[in-house]
Amino acid sequence: MADRPILMFDSGIGGLTVLREARVLMPDRRFVYVADDAGFPYGAWEEPALRERILSLFADLLERFDPEISVIACNTASTLVMDALRQRFPGHPFVGTVPAIKPAAERTRSGLVSVLGTPGTVKRQYTRDLIRQWASKCHVRLVGSGNLAQLAETYMRDGFVDEEAVRAEIAPCFMEQDGQRTDIVVLACTHYPFLVNRMRKTAPWPVDWIDPAEAIARRALSLLGAQRATVLSERADIAVFTSGKTEFTTRRLMQGFGLTVQG
Ligand code: DGL
Repeated sequence: MADRPILMFDSGIGGLTVLREARVLMPDRRFVYVADDAGFPYGAWEEPALRERILSLFADLLERFDPEISVIACNTASTLVMDALRQRFPGHPFVGTVPAIKPAAERTRSGLVSVLGTPGTVKRQYTRDLIRQWASKCHVRLVGSGNLAQLAETYMRDGFVDEEAVRAEIAPCFMEQDGQRTDIVVLACTHYPFLVNRMRKTAPWPVDWIDPAEAIARRALSLLGAQRATVLSERADIAVFTSGKTEFTTRRLMQGFGLTVQG
């Protein structure tokens, strides 16, 4: 069987939170991890420009790596371009990452839920439609964070994060209303699970933090179906950075995830 890889795409290192779950479920698969670091952060982009950028990157990526499936391991991209990607590249399977609003609405006891994402994700019509469709009985607060994705990047590379900065970014997620408190925070950016321990530490009270990584990996596995790679791949998993520039700390981080930086 052809050894076609699974392509994982994000603006930066956030998609690694999805890659680690995908590896557990699909240990015999080969992965190509693509970070559009030249476009990072996606949260502040205007929608038409970001849509065009991702479509044109995918024209190259599909040609270059011929993946069997592509996982858009980024909420900011998925809430914007999934339809456009499927239309532009019919026949190629895409898996997206969208805010886990439905599971949050099913699980909350207080009815107070927050969705923590990039400014781009929280302003998307797609996100608002998810709330209308699945969480109309809850009070959902959308919290756009300008800095958390960058804090996660720095933390993973340098091993340091300013806890006060994390506290300030997550503080608006916590609501108290009629004797009830927020009990679920949806992590609607794939970078954030890297900071979840710091979030737990700096949160004013304990909540459930929903990380959709495993569900996304399961979706990819189900689309690949019963088909398995028959031969364990001999080629190493690689990481590609669109800037073409990777510093030592980035290469070391990728190595820690079993990825060799290409280019
Ligand atoms: N990891 C991305 C997401 O899931 C966003 C990070 C960014 O580019 O701001 O939304």
